[in-house]
Amino acid sequence: ADALKIGIAGLGTVGASLVRIIQQRSNELAATCGRPILITGVSARDKSKDRGIDVGGIEWFDRPEDLAEKGDIDVFVELMGGVDGSANTSVRAALQRGLHVVTANKALLAYHGVELATLAEEKGVLLNFEAAVAGGIPVIKALRESLTGNTISRIYGIMNGTCNYILTKMEKEGLSFADCLKEAQRLGYAEADPAFDIEGNDTAHKLSILTTLAFGNQIAADDIYLEGITNISIEDIHAAADLGYRIKLLGVAQRTDTGIEQRVHPTMVPVDSVIAQVDGVTNAVAIESDVLGELLMVGPGAGGNATASSVLGDIADIAKSRPGAQRVPVLGHPAKSLEPYRKAQ
Ligand code: NAP
Ligand code: HSE
Repeated sequence: ADALKIGIAGLGTVGASLVRIIQQRSNELAATCGRPILITGVSARDKSKDRGIDVGGIEWFDRPEDLAEKGDIDVFVELMGGVDGSANTSVRAALQRGLHVVTANKALLAYHGVELATLAEEKGVLLNFEAAVAGGIPVIKALRESLTGNTISRIYGIMNGTCNYILTKMEKEGLSFADCLKEAQRLGYAEADPAFDIEGNDTAHKLSILTTLAFGNQIAADDIYLEGITNISIEDIHAAADLGYRIKLLGVAQRTDTGIEQRVHPTMVPVDSVIAQVDGVTNAVAIESDVLGELLMVGPGAGGNATASSVLGDIADIAKSRPGAQRVPVLGHPAKSLEPYRKAQ
């Protein structure tokens, strides 16, 4: 069968892991997907950087837009980050050209997700973004596919690996906030600008995407009560422990009689609850719905391999899909039928 040709824009923590896994597992992937997956184009800012991967025989593009517009590719994989720069222009160009797109970029989706979903649906292509929320946990698939037929009442959880890593290390190893953050950055967990992690914006971006998938409303990333972990001290963590609690940065979205409530803030959770036991870079997402009841998904929330695992799953879905086949709507509901966001009073 014909190979699925992919172009990867962004060769940082996630992109380099993805290249490595695809190259190391080419035979297994071809067998699982029924066709080979071939990287035929890449783009990053600095061509001379040593990334610990071999992209020697692959066409290089200085501009991701050129990869999207002219690359010999079927799928454009966006792993650069950012809301209004090259990530936005190149993803749009790829969809416009009729290419499938895979992205891990929650910030882009939180602000342009509905327009991009509309474009993908009009063009009949897939826009997959499993890696954008909770790293390796398949929460997008759960909401878009498995839970169809459920009415969801609430979603909450730990959705930022960097913050959970910092809070865990501060509590268990007594390290300072600044040292824990540095370590999270070294391990490839943090955003390019880590303020997005520690001030809660990254959790808010993810929550806004989950809210739309769960409740069928327009994305409302700026309409979220937001408080990060920058003011949490080691004394706060110890005081909570004395009372039988642990502090976790939670994102919470729920339906109420007056509308949808979305919030992100440090929360005291009882020490014997499952969510309190979720340590380090691990994420946890709980979904409450009427038919199923409560679903709790726990797993690696950030880092090169965890994230690349989800990106690769999205690519494999495309490799296995048939042209013209009925598509699952990008945001769980057809983009044009999303209801206006109504904030709880
Ligand atoms: P990263 O390590 O900072 O890598 C970003 C890559 O994009 C770099 O290779 C950079 O090139 C390239 N790039 C940035 N701007 C570019 C431009 N204008 N033109 C061409 N290339 C450009 O970031 P990352 O951690 O891999 O994250 C990538 C995306 O995945 C982000 O949207 C992030 O939010 C998301 N994500 C990350 C994780 C994680 O755990 N790291 C998890 C889930 C989702 P150079 O290398 O040449 O500078
Ligand atoms: N910076 C993000 C985090 C990456 O720490 O959770 C995964 O989305």
